[in-house]
Amino acid sequence: MSALDATARHPLDRLTAAEIARNRVVLDKAGLIGPATRFPLVMLAEPAKADVLAWAPGDPVRRRVRTVLLDRGTGAVTEVTVSLDDDEVVAQRTVDVVAEGQPPIMGEEFDLVEKVLWADDAWCAAMARRGLDDPRRVRVSALSAGSFGIDGEDGRRLVRCLSFLQLDDDDNVWAHPVDGVVAYVDLVTAEVVELIDEGVFPVPQETANFHRPDPQRPERTSQRPIEITQPEGPSFTVDGDVVRWEGWELRIGFDQVEGLTLHQVGFRDGDRLRPVVYRASVAEMVVPYGDPSPVRFWQNYFDAGEYSLGKDTNSLTLGCDCLGEIHYFDATIADDDGQPRHLGNAICMHEEDAGLLWKHTDMYNGVSSTRRQRRLVVSFFITVGNYDYGFYWYFYLDGTLELECKATGVVFASAYPGPLPDGSEYPWASEVAPGVGAPYHQHLFSARLDMMVDGLVNAVDEVDAQRVPVGPGNPYGNAFTKRATRIARESEAARLADGSVGRVWQVSNPERRNAMGRPVAYELHPEGLPTLLADPSSSIARRAAFTTRHLWVTAYDEAQRYPSGTYVNQNPGDNGVDTWVKADRDLDGADLVLWHTFGLTHFPRPEDWPIMPVDRTGFVMMPVGFFDRNPALDTPEPRAHCSPGSSTCCGEG
Ligand code: CO
Repeated sequence: MSALDATARHPLDRLTAAEIARNRVVLDKAGLIGPATRFPLVMLAEPAKADVLAWAPGDPVRRRVRTVLLDRGTGAVTEVTVSLDDDEVVAQRTVDVVAEGQPPIMGEEFDLVEKVLWADDAWCAAMARRGLDDPRRVRVSALSAGSFGIDGEDGRRLVRCLSFLQLDDDDNVWAHPVDGVVAYVDLVTAEVVELIDEGVFPVPQETANFHRPDPQRPERTSQRPIEITQPEGPSFTVDGDVVRWEGWELRIGFDQVEGLTLHQVGFRDGDRLRPVVYRASVAEMVVPYGDPSPVRFWQNYFDAGEYSLGKDTNSLTLGCDCLGEIHYFDATIADDDGQPRHLGNAICMHEEDAGLLWKHTDMYNGVSSTRRQRRLVVSFFITVGNYDYGFYWYFYLDGTLELECKATGVVFASAYPGPLPDGSEYPWASEVAPGVGAPYHQHLFSARLDMMVDGLVNAVDEVDAQRVPVGPGNPYGNAFTKRATRIARESEAARLADGSVGRVWQVSNPERRNAMGRPVAYELHPEGLPTLLADPSSSIARRAAFTTRHLWVTAYDEAQRYPSGTYVNQNPGDNGVDTWVKADRDLDGADLVLWHTFGLTHFPRPEDWPIMPVDRTGFVMMPVGFFDRNPALDTPEPRAHCSPGSSTCCGEG
């Protein structure tokens, strides 16, 4: 028995620093690491669902690591699986980067592009034409290249670079876009492949240093403290990565692509732990921009698949990022060299008051009854370039599950070109500050919900409210009902939300019945905001096909983990969920995965400048006949907590 067996107690335990280090040693011994080898992806190879479900405490815990190696000298990409039980490579293949795409962009490649451009004569001349004689004051954003069929790009590992002027070391660069010029850089050969200079725009000079004290804007002095305390501690318990709270039980996971992942989410109902979701994560998010300008028509960032958003996780600060009685989970991922990297305070967990759970004052028996809702919050926050995103999973007393994504940070800026020649407004960007444009864009997320509603055999219905015309059974025309349509096959499983009929998707288990004899179910409530607005023939519609519908349903396949495929960076498309559903697998009474697209369509406002107040998007899942009645009936009356001098107080008398 190796020392590792003592650390991994469950097949889904997160990779430890020791395991990541050992993976690198095994790869090295196998001769797979040369002087130019980099490690864009190192992840736990999660065992198959059936194996995890069959596992029992005391059984052996098999540990495998999946690594993607990039040779920075040649651009070759190798996918390797290592068994840590046997200290050996158990699978290895070469990735076809033209057909499959490139591994994600690594942090060190951001540094590389600045060095390349600062030393490039043509780029420096383009900066000089803009009066920028010190190229080192121009900071470069290395942006994912996409796949546009541009001649000569096949097989190259590319980024496209926009730049920003930095007035001093502490200056917020996003306020000073250097527009009209873009450089395409090959990250393997470290050369500029193409420089496009479409004309000189004035570089906005007004600073946007919201982080500095401003004598023109003294801080308000009106705020009195809000203290959140739980004198007896929080109501949850933590056992390794397993969390139990008010009936809910779940397992925390974390990886470099998705960040926080939730596993084996269930609800304790009497003496049974009833599964709801086997695995939940945000498996991709993409930010497509809507400005067709020749220097930015290609702007579409996949923050998971192209940038490994988990690597960009913030270390959170108590009292600042998180308020109250907080439990932090640290995370360990691999760095670009395949060595363990520790992320302190990566995941924040707490419980919070969530307003009223119920309230009723009865006119006949005179009884007033009030209960307070509370929720468990499990969250993490990332910074990807100019934007910052928070992902907040909420678990409620009544069995409701919610994901809220928060978008903040600085909007991506351009030089605002002013009105068009005919006097009309520039149609592709807002002017957020004098001369500063913010191109229109969307933030489209894909939640992968590997469902397990009271078991593995599930089915999905699309449920719409339905008007009923006046007729023999409805003489006064007041009737309305609901209509459920079974999504029986994958060919029927690409769906759009419809707020006009209150459309929801119900995942039921035909083998489990509630007290009324009906299948137990959970229901997905979408926000139903716009799907992808780019033309259906566009590159992004092909590469991010998941964004063209609010819901996809697939039969579970352990290889289908990311809705735009595994190698998203420069992926030409046709590798994701839209391709998988062509198999047209049976979904009626199957092990199902929901892929839910949601997100914001952002027409930036002046109020989003210079830093954007948090905007929100997400979805809710709630039990529908999963329980026989309100599962929170045993919630006690709130205990007295009264302000001095208040005349009446909850919990008194
Ligand atoms: Co935005």
